[in-house]
Amino acid sequence: MRVLVTGGTGYIGSTAVDILISQGYEISILDDCSMGHADSVPAGVSFIKGSLLNAGDLAQALVGVDAVMHFAGKSLVGESVEKPDLYHQVNVNGSRNLLDQMHMSGVTKLVFSSSAATYGEPKVVPIVETAPTHPTNPYGATKLAIDQMITAESASRGIAAASLRYFNVAGALKSTRGWLAERHNPETHLIPNVLRSTAENPVKIFGSDWPTADGTCIRDYVHVVDLIDAHIKALESLQMGVHEIYNLGSGDGYSVREVVAAASKATGYEIPTIDSPRRAGDPAVLIADINKAKTKLGWRPTRDIETMVADTLASFS
Ligand code: UFG
Repeated sequence: MRVLVTGGTGYIGSTAVDILISQGYEISILDDCSMGHADSVPAGVSFIKGSLLNAGDLAQALVGVDAVMHFAGKSLVGESVEKPDLYHQVNVNGSRNLLDQMHMSGVTKLVFSSSAATYGEPKVVPIVETAPTHPTNPYGATKLAIDQMITAESASRGIAAASLRYFNVAGALKSTRGWLAERHNPETHLIPNVLRSTAENPVKIFGSDWPTADGTCIRDYVHVVDLIDAHIKALESLQMGVHEIYNLGSGDGYSVREVVAAASKATGYEIPTIDSPRRAGDPAVLIADINKAKTKLGWRPTRDIETMVADTLASFS
């Protein structure tokens, strides 16, 4: 099966490419490299440096393709608050173009990178897929709009689709070409920031007065390799005319201070931190209910927070 990986040069997309190839899939990549890195493309893979906003690029990328894994998009919550139009243009209009070009090319299978940000501030945790969706930022709103577009598309044009709502993706994969890891600039994610913390520039803890046991936010971290395993299981379980939504997390929550403690253990020294004000838009607690992915996909995350921290640390060297 040939899979088009949009966003295949980014952190999560490049990990997907590597694992898909190792499992015998043929790969095409479409990426404008605005966030990703062309040097992550394996030799011999069909790579189109192009945009979801360009119909010609999409049509070219879809040649000979049986299914699409759609990772491409803008994904920074803070930036989305500053540039909501850009997020709508790239994420929503780009996905609309992809669906239209898939229809024209006769491609009917889609696995989409959605987000826990679609739920907004949850009333109940762990969060189930049927929970209300009230995104609190434009990024989450674009992911929800795309999920809804895919639901309509599966009903009207009969495509087979799955939206995977990621919680906090972390860790890295050691490939034959070196580590595939987060290479964001600026980096906003907790684990890489904690591991780069120094006495001169300590990692900021955004809020220590949250209504949690230690006063810091709780998140559900999932290893990127487990995440891609779920994508492949979702791809293999697609049914025509059906759009399934699955949460992907570990089902467990870790506070910011617990992540710092895991990093201190991994590095062998006390990570310097500085208590700072809350970050706008952060919910206190986000934990996934992953029972649907467990029962319907037969998926189990197997890599714990220590492994996520250790792999991220190893990827720096
Ligand atoms: N945090 C800090 N200091 C930092 C970075 C983060 O204290 O330097 C805290 C945040 O306030 C938050 C937690 O660590 O409580 C995790 O923050 P991240 O920025 O690593 O991740 P988020 O939970 O904000 O966002 C992630 C994805 C989003 C997605 C969201 C959905 O990056 O794309 O999960 O839950 F929308």
